Order: sequence, then structure tokens, then C-alpha cells
Amino acid sequence: MSSSPVIELIREKLDIVDVVREYVPSLKKAGRNHKANCPFHNEKSPSFTVSPDKQIFYCFGCNEGGDIFTFVMKIEGLTFPEAARKLALKAGVEYGDERSHAMTEADKERLEIKKLLTAAAAFYNKTLFSPAGEKARLYLGERRLSKATVERFELGWAPAGGTALMDEMKARGWSRDLALKAGLITEREGGLVADTFRGRIMFPIRNQAGDTVAFGGRVLDPEAQPKYLNSPETVLFSKRRTLYGLHEALPQIRKSAKLLLLEGYMDVIGAHQHGVDWAVAPLGTALTNEHAGLIGRYAKDTVVMFDGDRAGINASVRAAEIFMEAGIYVRLADLGCTLDPDEFLNEYGREEFEKKMAEASDPLDFRMNLFFKGRKTPPSSQEKAQAIAVLLKTVAKQPDEILKSEWVKSLATRFGVEEASVLKQLRKVPGASPKEARRGAAQAVQALPSIERGFVQLLLRDPSLIEASALLEPEDFSSPLARRLFEAMRALPATERAKAATALAAQFPEDAALILELAVADLGGETFGAQNAAGAIKMLKRFSVERRLKELKAAEPMDPQQFKEYSRLMSELKSSAKEI
Ligand code: UTP
Ligand code: MN
Repeated sequence: MSSSPVIELIREKLDIVDVVREYVPSLKKAGRNHKANCPFHNEKSPSFTVSPDKQIFYCFGCNEGGDIFTFVMKIEGLTFPEAARKLALKAGVEYGDERSHAMTEADKERLEIKKLLTAAAAFYNKTLFSPAGEKARLYLGERRLSKATVERFELGWAPAGGTALMDEMKARGWSRDLALKAGLITEREGGLVADTFRGRIMFPIRNQAGDTVAFGGRVLDPEAQPKYLNSPETVLFSKRRTLYGLHEALPQIRKSAKLLLLEGYMDVIGAHQHGVDWAVAPLGTALTNEHAGLIGRYAKDTVVMFDGDRAGINASVRAAEIFMEAGIYVRLADLGCTLDPDEFLNEYGREEFEKKMAEASDPLDFRMNLFFKGRKTPPSSQEKAQAIAVLLKTVAKQPDEILKSEWVKSLATRFGVEEASVLKQLRKVPGASPKEARRGAAQAVQALPSIERGFVQLLLRDPSLIEASALLEPEDFSSPLARRLFEAMRALPATERAKAATALAAQFPEDAALILELAVADLGGETFGAQNAAGAIKMLKRFSVERRLKELKAAEPMDPQQFKEYSRLMSELKSSAKEI
């Protein structure tokens, strides 16, 4: 984590509770912490926790956590220096020139990659309007995109040559290493490097803040494969978390709280051109939990409208399940033909399109419509039973009990069967309980032996207790994680101790969530301190001795040295037993 006098000053002047409350107005005091529904994922009961003592936040639901800087970075999609500048303004601290600050190497690199990607987007765009881009311009014209739309989404053309971008960037002083990290060039067989995108129409992919973080490239030749190529994952780009068009759509989504989820780049662009400027799309992947969480954060009314083909219908049904499991209510729209939304708009116009959005139905109705659509004769009893069985799997996953019972009712009505038998059948479906989805840090925390967990937690709460822990050795902890944390805590300079939780989280990024969870978790309202620590240390010591004794016993016959150790440990155990 970056640190400099200015950063420390900002930290001193600002309280994390105030910073977070600006984005999360519902933040409320709960014991020593503050709680609210998490802004990083969708939830119904608050697991997002802010600790004023530790000046950190942590969400027990999605495991996001960190300090004020991380919070602003995550919620605004900023780099560290950008977040720091923003917070400096709020704190009334002179931030000055970015270069004068101690940025980590990783921060500097992220910033450079962003600049490089911005330059690449400009290059592709310029090429589109050069003679080399003529065919692509004609194609975009055929697709009925206006010049204004092309500019708004900064579409471009990647020349077919193979190294055009690389040469241009090199001439402008960018390093090959950076271009590789940005995903703009790719190593090929024999160690040769070439442009990642060649002979493709370029779609810059922007993050929420509007920075270009990746590209999608579409072929012109209908035979060429793959039709779309996307940038690889980079430090700036994660497909799972990115929605195409979100930056452009956010003003409208914020205003109206509605969102339209489409399938492809061209659909989003077409929708915006027709004034449907609340449209976004995932990036060639199925919708993820992360996407759903992001959408749930902004929109109250989400309509999913995928392509009218079989694949599109299946994808929208899957998307609906993901939303449902995240507790987000969505409706599914059906264009009633096999046209893509983009083609439909060009063919029938915005008014007809908006009608289809308005008619979008509840996911269960959508699927029942599919089942009954085009049937000439009523389904047989067996067909009904099979269809109901399939649909009940979805119903079982509905976390909202009211909706669930509504669904049971409408299944019964629509299929003309007894509600009671639908209910009976539903009880037989193995319930995919949403609690099973709790993952990551929460599980890791459970995996720590409780005494070790408690002790690490005490240390994170009051790192000065480390002074009283001289008796303990890392080997006294049975879990490797507790051992590592204890060692790291012991190695922390006394001046860093006040920020132990964030310091350790930065040191062990993989376990950051767990560390922050331990630091903010409620200890149950009792007062903790030196006394508990002393008790915990004794206990840890004793368990450790017992473990070692067991190991020695298992090694029988013991050699003389082992036997000596065994006797010593036995007497240690006896005397400690007397004390307790
Ligand atoms: P589509 O094949 O529906 O393309 O894929 P499209 O967006 O409608 O484009 P046009 O209208 O044919 O020009 C939908 C989305 O799936 C991803 C892209 O994000 C695309 O926009 N995709 C598709 C890929 O990532 N790779 C592919 O090869 C194909
Ligand atoms: Mn299409």
C-alpha cells in the first residue's frame, strides 16, 4: 500500500465512516462498528461493516475490504493516485503533482497501461478514418451506425498488417513490455511478437469511469474466426466485472434506475444510437455474479433482452437465475422473432422496441410462455409433469418466499394442476440454499482452529499485545495461516502496529479478506484485552505441547533425544495444568 506524508495526512484528517457514508447513506451504527447493505454486491441484510477503530471496511458477504483509499478506488473504479487526489480534496490537503508522491510500482504501471490503451484507441480510431479504414467504414455504414455514434464509442480499425500498432507505439516511446501487459501485442510462436488485433473493427471497452481498459475486435470477413476477439485479462481488465456501455449508460441509469441488458457490442451501440441509452452488455461471457451485483447496485428495473435465437434464450434463462440468486428482480423480454435487438431497432424503430421492453415478463412466465408457445394441442400429463419438474428447480432457488409461493400458484394455474401437488413436488427438490454460496474468507475463517482465530483476532484488535506474547513461537499454531500471521505481526515495526490489519492485508493479498474480516468481526460485546490474551497464550501453548506429544508418541519407539523431549513436555504440561 502506498504511503507518503501526504497520504498519512489524508488518513489522519478523514474518518472512514464519513467517507463511506457519502456513498452509502444508509450506514448505521451497530455496536463498535457501522453497518449497511453492501455497495459492492446485492444483499438484503447488511454484512458491510465499517470499523472506526481500525479505519477499515469489510463485507462479510462478498469479502471486499480495505481502508479509505481502497474504498474510493473500488467504488469509483479509480487507481490509487486518482482516489488519493479525490480524498486529498475532501481532507483539504494539498496533493500537488502525482509524480511527487510515493506511488507503488504497481500503481505507476496501472496508470501507464491506461495511458497506453487510450493512445491505442485513438490510433485505431484515426486509422478507421484513414484510407486504410475504408472497408470498415463502409461496413459500419451498412450496419447503419452514424458518425456521431462511431465517435461516441470511439470505434476504430486495426490494420491487417500485423505490427502496425506495435510500430506506432514504439515510435511514440512506449515499451514492448508495457504493450504486452496491456494485451495490445501478443507473443507468438518462436518468440515473435505481433499486434493482438489485426484486420478487425475495434470496440474500446471502458470501465465505469470511462477509461479504456481493453478492446473487443470484430472481423469483417463473415467466415473468419473468431468473430469477436477480446483483450486478455490484465491488471485493469476483468471480463467478469466489466459491462460494455456502462460508462455511457450510467447517467441515464442513475436518473431512471432502469437498465437494459443486451447480448453484444453492436446491440448496445445500436440501442444508444436509437436513444435507448440505458443499455449495457456482458463481454462474450455468460453473465456472472459480479455483473449481477454491479447491476443490482444501480438499477431497480432490469430487463434482459438477449438475441431471439435458441442460444440467446438459453443465455437469458441462465442470466435470470443468476439475478434471482443474487436477490435481484429482473424481467425477460422476447422480441418475438429471431432478430438481434440491433437489427430489430433498425427494422421496426424505437417505439416497437420499447413496447417489447414494457411487455417483458417475470422469468417464470417467460419460461412457461416458451413451453406453451406454438403448441397446437394441450400438453399430455407426462409432458406437464416433466416441464413442471424442470421449472421447480428454478422455483426452489428463489430466495424470496413471497415470490416463491406466487410462482407455485401460477405454475398450478397455467398447467391446470393442483397447487398442493406442485407444493409437494417442490419440497422434493433438493434446495439450493443461498447460504451454501457463502464462500472465501468466511470459510477460511471457519477453517482456523477457534482458539487460534480468537488469538489472531485479539492481536489485530490490539497489536500491542504482541509484546505479551513472547512466550509463543510460530510453531505453536497448528494452522499455517495463523502461523504466518503471527510471524508477520511480530515482525511489524512498532510504528506500523496501529495499522496492523491493513499492513498485513497488503502483505498477504490472498488472505486480505480474511484478515480484514477478523479485524472487524464482532467479538460479542465483551471486553477483550491483556487478560484474554494471557489466557489464550496459555491455551495455545498447551495445545501445542499436546500436539507435539502426540507426534512423539506416534513416532514410537522414540530415540533417546525424543524421549528426553517427551519427558520435558510431559512435565511442562503437568505444571501448566496446575496453573489453569
Ligand atoms: P453475437 O454473435 O450475437 O454478436 O455475440 P453481435 O454483438 O450481435 O455482433 P454482430 O451483430 O454480429 O456484429 C454477442 C457477443 O458475444 C461476444 C461479443 O461480446 C459479442 O458482442 N462474442 C461473440 C465473443 O466474445 N466472441 C465471439 O466469437 C462471438
Ligand atoms: Mn448482432
